Amino acid sequence: MTTLSPRDGYRLWAPTYSAETVVTALEEQTVESFAVPVVGARLLDAGCGTGRRLRTADARVAVGIDLTPEMLPVTHRTEHYAVADVRALPFAPDRFDVVWCRLALGHIPDLAAAYRELARVCRVGGSVVVTDFHPAAAAAGHRRTFRASDGSVYEIAHYVHALIEHERAADVAGLDTIKHDDRAVGPAVREFYERAGRGGAYETQVGLPMVLGIAFTRRT
Ligand SMILES: C[S@@+](CC[C@H](N)C(=O)[O-])C[C@H]1O[C@@H](n2cnc3c(N)ncnc32)[C@H](O)[C@@H]1O
Repeated sequence: MTTLSPRDGYRLWAPTYSAETVVTALEEQTVESFAVPVVGARLLDAGCGTGRRLRTADARVAVGIDLTPEMLPVTHRTEHYAVADVRALPFAPDRFDVVWCRLALGHIPDLAAAYRELARVCRVGGSVVVTDFHPAAAAAGHRRTFRASDGSVYEIAHYVHALIEHERAADVAGLDTIKHDDRAVGPAVREFYERAGRGGAYETQVGLPMVLGIAFTRRT
């Protein structure tokens, strides 16, 4: 199978990316479980992809950045989008109350610069929410793959980061862990397997953590 860079992979995946998958459905549950309030907040989604999570957030200020221009939607009346790298965010310090970085850090080999930037643009006392493909899923042989519109299956380059690596990089950047969540395959996502005619895979994978989530606060 061909492995693509994140930039090339998401450029090809962009037209069909918005279809929810087992991983994205579990990821959404993880973020909801943290109950970090975003209504009325200044919210940044770093690695926002198609902006689908920002659109429904009801934030006062909703800004999304992504490395892949083809993933970004047209700027909407209530959201703003820009092409940028999470390791070099084009914003002043303390600009946001809540910063999300959802399923993007696994595409970056070294977490330090990303956490430094996520913390820098978050106000003191604000929240940073990070999700990643779970190391246990990678250890079980799962990969970040997608089927392009020509029918070919590609893998996108991905790096495994254990919880402790996230927490160490976050700590150096000035972030304290508030909550962490390991979200596993279970009844909430069984329908994805059944719709794909993969009920047997569900029985094999049930209980396997697919998404790692961490909610941080920026300390003074
Ligand atoms: C799995 S998608 C997640 C998109 C969105 N967060 C969501 O949950 O729907 C990963 C996204 O991260 C973006 N990405 C990868 N590396 C990045 C980087 N260094 N800076 C910003 N975005 C990056 C990709 O272009 C892609 O849109």
